[in-house]
Amino acid sequence: MSTANKPLRFISEFVRHPVATAAIAPSSRHLASAMCEGIDFTAVRTIFEFGPGTGVFTHAVLERLKAAGTTEFRYTALELNERMAAELREKTPRADVRHANALDIESICTREQLPPVDLVVSGLGWPSLPGHVRDGILEQTARVLRPGAEFRTFGYHVGLLFPGAWKFRAKCRELFSIFEISPVTWRNLPPAFVYRCVK
Ligand SMILES: C[S@@+](CC[C@H](N)C(=O)[O-])C[C@H]1O[C@@H](n2cnc3c(N)ncnc32)[C@H](O)[C@@H]1O
Repeated sequence: MSTANKPLRFISEFVRHPVATAAIAPSSRHLASAMCEGIDFTAVRTIFEFGPGTGVFTHAVLERLKAAGTTEFRYTALELNERMAAELREKTPRADVRHANALDIESICTREQLPPVDLVVSGLGWPSLPGHVRDGILEQTARVLRPGAEFRTFGYHVGLLFPGAWKFRAKCRELFSIFEISPVTWRNLPPAFVYRCVK
């Protein structure tokens, strides 16, 4: 399928893997902007993304790195869906897109002797993840980030109907020194807010 057909790719992957995909449409550019708001892109070198899907956040971050004049960076995107990972890898040579689980982040950092991570951006659907996966990813993220570095992620407004969303919030409050929730981005399907977590 052509990469121009992102919504169709999303829907077909949602039908095949509804729990992992956790969305019927890719995030909007408005949500991608909110995800990037306030980040100092001159100061980030080691970056991870979880669940890039069709790459809306990947491209938003890469554009901002370019605009900030940051050319020396390492961008590693971990995507569980093999087809999505392969398509994004093909069209995004500046990112190291891997068919991998976000739960692999700590072992990747250790094995590849990476410096403490400067930024983690996540597109995972937290309410639908099993509790041990959600907590494991959050705990590893908090360990690999350098002190003062940010973890950005989002939640659907409607996701608050699910207990997993509240457990996600409680775990973030436990692990990060700052935990902030943005106003709702209404121009997204479904509307969503951004979580800003600082180690
Ligand atoms: C809600 S979609 C978001 C996609 C994209 N970031 C966006 O905002 O349009 C969640 C994505 O996370 C991926 N995913 C789910 N569980 C994952 C995991 N444990 N590790 C890596 N990717 C995962 C899914 O395959 C899907 O592409």
